[in-house]
Amino acid sequence: MTTLSSTHHTPPPAKNIPMLTGGLPLIGHLTEFLKDPVSMLIRGWHEQGELFQFRLGTRKFVLFAGPEAHDCYFRAPRDHMSAKDVYQFTVPIFGRGVAYDVSPELMSEQLGFLYPELRESALRKFSDIMFEETMNFADAMGQQGELDLPQAMNQLTINIASHCLIGPEVRNQLNAGFAESYHDLQNGINTLGFFFPHLPTPAHRSRDRARKSISEMFERIVMERRRTGARSDDFMQKVMESRYKDGRAVTDEEITGILLTVLFAGQHTSAVLATWTCLELLNSPSYIDKLRNEMQEIYANENASNIDTLKQQSLMEYTIRENERLHPPLILLIRKVLKPVQFGDHSVPAGTLAMVSPAAAHRLPHLFANPDRFYPERFASPNREDKQHRYTLIGFGGGNHMCMGKHFAYLQLKTIWTVLLDRFDFFTDRDIPAPNYGSWVTGPKEPCRVRYQHRSKSGIFH
Ligand code: HEM
Repeated sequence: MTTLSSTHHTPPPAKNIPMLTGGLPLIGHLTEFLKDPVSMLIRGWHEQGELFQFRLGTRKFVLFAGPEAHDCYFRAPRDHMSAKDVYQFTVPIFGRGVAYDVSPELMSEQLGFLYPELRESALRKFSDIMFEETMNFADAMGQQGELDLPQAMNQLTINIASHCLIGPEVRNQLNAGFAESYHDLQNGINTLGFFFPHLPTPAHRSRDRARKSISEMFERIVMERRRTGARSDDFMQKVMESRYKDGRAVTDEEITGILLTVLFAGQHTSAVLATWTCLELLNSPSYIDKLRNEMQEIYANENASNIDTLKQQSLMEYTIRENERLHPPLILLIRKVLKPVQFGDHSVPAGTLAMVSPAAAHRLPHLFANPDRFYPERFASPNREDKQHRYTLIGFGGGNHMCMGKHFAYLQLKTIWTVLLDRFDFFTDRDIPAPNYGSWVTGPKEPCRVRYQHRSKSGIFH
């Protein structure tokens, strides 16, 4: 039975949280963790069960593994488990006065301005932009060639995210400095920055310059919209017109910060999952045929490409879901325990860094049959392996920090691979690359190039 401790009653005497074997003096489990954190955490689950500790250097971490443990983790109130205390490295990127720089309540209020825009029912208007951007991208690819896949997916998702989420002005300025500044801002997320976000390294100086130039660009657009009275149906407009509960308007600095938070949370994660999707399909080409057959059937009757037709592509949906399972871009979610949290007979003490690992959880063999196999049908009836518990599949997190962009991300990934698989054949001579655990968002190790060839004119999106 899972309980969360409350300060109002005395919990039963807690058992010690078991320690993962194999730790070394001083460094603990650091070497094994840096080499392959996911295998280490799966080993921990096999060995110790749903809750265990390990050490990275002198710091102790506790992993919550498995649906019941995830439930306890995600349900913990914010004053027990804090994301803010862990994600301080984002403050120089998102900016002061927003997201993890403010109280969790204020952060929720700020992100709440955009919740209605990201609800499934509100996504219809984005679907046309996603198709338009992907078709333009496909046109520019020409008849044949070679792609640096992660870079190409990064570019395409920047085009889509800047167009849908920020607004057409930023999309049109991609070539005029925004893409470069955004890239420098992305490089500001590095291991050193996680521990020392304000250290004056060259990467951090470029990050700060880029932040300033993006904020000037956004503020110019906001001012221009206010001056001309022009209104757009986009996130920038929504935040500009929002009011806090106490009636206060959102400042220009906060507008930039909220938009950057959403852009950062959503763009690179989507690019990485789009990349893995292509690589897994190339490794199991029979699914490419099945996906094309599904598309032929659906688009023969409904020649419009939009959110409704995408919804009918159930194999495409399961394919993306299988990639979320095998390659969740965020392999670790971290919180600092502020007040003891009880799970079963154990009490996780204040001060602990508590983790959930979507990547480890998605390979637990009692939940996912043959977990290393790419098998999208595991989500179809009657298997429905993800439906065993609400926290079996957790690539988008859960609880009060649950991703707000999941439906947007799915729509985008389905659009990208619907158009590109229809338009091109892709080829690679290599096996699927191993994950690159050195980066905050876990993509494949590079180089990761694929060749492509335009298919015959009989396709749908030509
Ligand atoms: C494949 C794409 C994506 C993945 C895998 C992903 C994954 C996640 C995960 C795991 C979290 C929870 C983090 C935690 O608990 O510490 C999260 C939070 C968040 N995501 Fe996403 N996300 C994706 C796309 C998006 C998109 C497209 C948007 C916006 C349009 C977005 C906006 C956010 C925001 C704002 C949060 C923070 C929520 C909060 O802390 O209250 N994400 N995402």
